[in-house]
Amino acid sequence: MSIAGTQSAPPAWRLLLDYVRPHRWALLAGALLSLVTGGTGLLLPLVARGLIDDLSHDRTITGALLAMSALVVANAALGALGSYVLRRTAESVVLGARRKLSSYLLRLRISAVDRSEPGDLMARITSDTTLLREVTTDSLVGLGTGGLTLVATVVMMGIVDPVLLGVTLAVIAGAGTVLTLILPRINRASRQAQDAVGVMGASLERILGALRTVKASGAEDREERTLHAAAEESWRQSVRAAKWSAAAGNTAALSMQVAFITVLAVGGARVATGSIDVGTLVAFLLYVFYLMQPIQQVVGAITQYQTGTAALSRIQEALQLPAEPPSLPAQLPSPGAEPAALAFDGVRFRYADDLPYVHHGVTFEVPAQGMTAFVGPSGAGKTTVFSLIERFYDPESGAITLDGRDLAEWELSGLRSAIGYVEQDAPVLSGSLRDNLLLGNPDADDAAVTRVLKTTRLDGLIARLPKGIDTLVGHRGTRLSGGERQRVAIARALLRHPRLLLLDEATSQLDAVNEAALRDTVADVARTTTVLVVAHRLSTVTMADRIVVMDAGRVRAVGTHRELVTADALYAELAATQFLATTG
Ligand SMILES: Nc1ncnc2c1ncn2[C@@H]1O[C@H](COP(=O)(O)OP(=O)(O)OP(=O)(O)O)[C@@H](O)[C@H]1O
Ligand SMILES: [Mg+2]
Repeated sequence: MSIAGTQSAPPAWRLLLDYVRPHRWALLAGALLSLVTGGTGLLLPLVARGLIDDLSHDRTITGALLAMSALVVANAALGALGSYVLRRTAESVVLGARRKLSSYLLRLRISAVDRSEPGDLMARITSDTTLLREVTTDSLVGLGTGGLTLVATVVMMGIVDPVLLGVTLAVIAGAGTVLTLILPRINRASRQAQDAVGVMGASLERILGALRTVKASGAEDREERTLHAAAEESWRQSVRAAKWSAAAGNTAALSMQVAFITVLAVGGARVATGSIDVGTLVAFLLYVFYLMQPIQQVVGAITQYQTGTAALSRIQEALQLPAEPPSLPAQLPSPGAEPAALAFDGVRFRYADDLPYVHHGVTFEVPAQGMTAFVGPSGAGKTTVFSLIERFYDPESGAITLDGRDLAEWELSGLRSAIGYVEQDAPVLSGSLRDNLLLGNPDADDAAVTRVLKTTRLDGLIARLPKGIDTLVGHRGTRLSGGERQRVAIARALLRHPRLLLLDEATSQLDAVNEAALRDTVADVARTTTVLVVAHRLSTVTMADRIVVMDAGRVRAVGTHRELVTADALYAELAATQFLATTG
């Protein structure tokens, strides 16, 4: 899947610096510690020389020995501290990216989620952020320390002999040209490897989310092939990236060998003509030798940076998906709050610009209090009405008002806190029954929970379970029956004391006894709240205060059951096929 953003992204290094900036002092400290460790390492030979000196002059060596031990211990301690600080900083960068991304994903617009694969988004949070770790420590620190050493060495070379420096730089420039050809390939391969990890996440999520269906369809082998294909693609691209990284590393090594030979040849000639003496040539060759490590380090850093920025661009794409504006959490309505009034006026809506209209000018009014039912054939746009009320989507034209105020003028959290919504497939989240019930109102007290369990007839179930309300329900509530899941979802919505209750086929899986009981509960709630229900079984809505008949994205008729059976042909037909008395 690709979720390429439309805006042009800032350059990768700027993005990377944004992530690193909060930790710049720690990073600097780590880099300094590493430098100091290197420095104390360099002191060791001097102390050793002193020790040998002392020995040869028959002096006591205790002082030199102590100094050497102290140096070794300090070196090890500083080295450990340095790598700990760097590693910790890198992890903090990863944490920062994960925090930012996960907060953002929770605010994504539903329309953006519709077009993405959750598994791929998951891979961006878990796997791509991990790649930032290396790019922070190895790459940035390597570039810093390696770069510094490189500059210092080049300066020294310039002092020793500018001509030979010119020769060396020419060779390095040649290698640099080759590297500029290789680096984009590393970047592209890393990007494709990470994309393949995303594809794998998406197929995994798809399969694990519906493993029963996959098994029942005997599709394991085919699904296995898809998974393996994604894993192999990631392997292929990672190997490609490894190949180019190896090429980059060896180009650097090769260039140094070439530089060595060229300097030897050119320098030899210069010695022969008397331009420089042998000592200068030897010193210069030593510097060429010293150049090797920082060059390897810098090239390694740049190579690493390619992988990091590939991951960074995937993270950035997710951060460019359309999101809802941030809004402060809103208070839930208090139990006795006024019911809400709702109106749709000429609402036209489609899920995307390239999809057909789902609502062609939907108009209806729902006064505060009472029960309004939405009926109509499958695909008529009933669930879409609810999605628009929750502002999961915005209509293209027309207006939706709650309490006479356009939805667009509501603070999103304020709007949603007024509403209790039971979705068509009554999702239950992994966790305990209690977690699920309190999801919409974490402050509900035990008395309220007990009351709601009773009205939704879940008290029997809870009494039967060994762990009662703390029983775990499994992924998407698979350890509950369909009807139990629906009742948990209703209880959850009721606990919010909503001013507007939306029930989408909320009792479709209940047995007749439970359904009748829930019908009474809902009728009861409708005395103090505005209740909107979608139902295919007309028997559940015949007593509604008004019924809105929808067909193909339009409202056909509004009235009571008694009025509609005579006034609307579609409703009469629905009623007749469901053996309801057409005379009311
Ligand atoms: N997220 C979505 N993205 C694109 N199209 C969608 C989306 N959700 C629904 N649709 C389309 O919108 C139309 C109306 O769907 P909606 O869910 O509102 O119907 P419904 O009246 O609730 O049907 P049912 O009785 O089967 O639940 C359908 O044709 C459906 O294919
Ligand atoms: Mg529906």
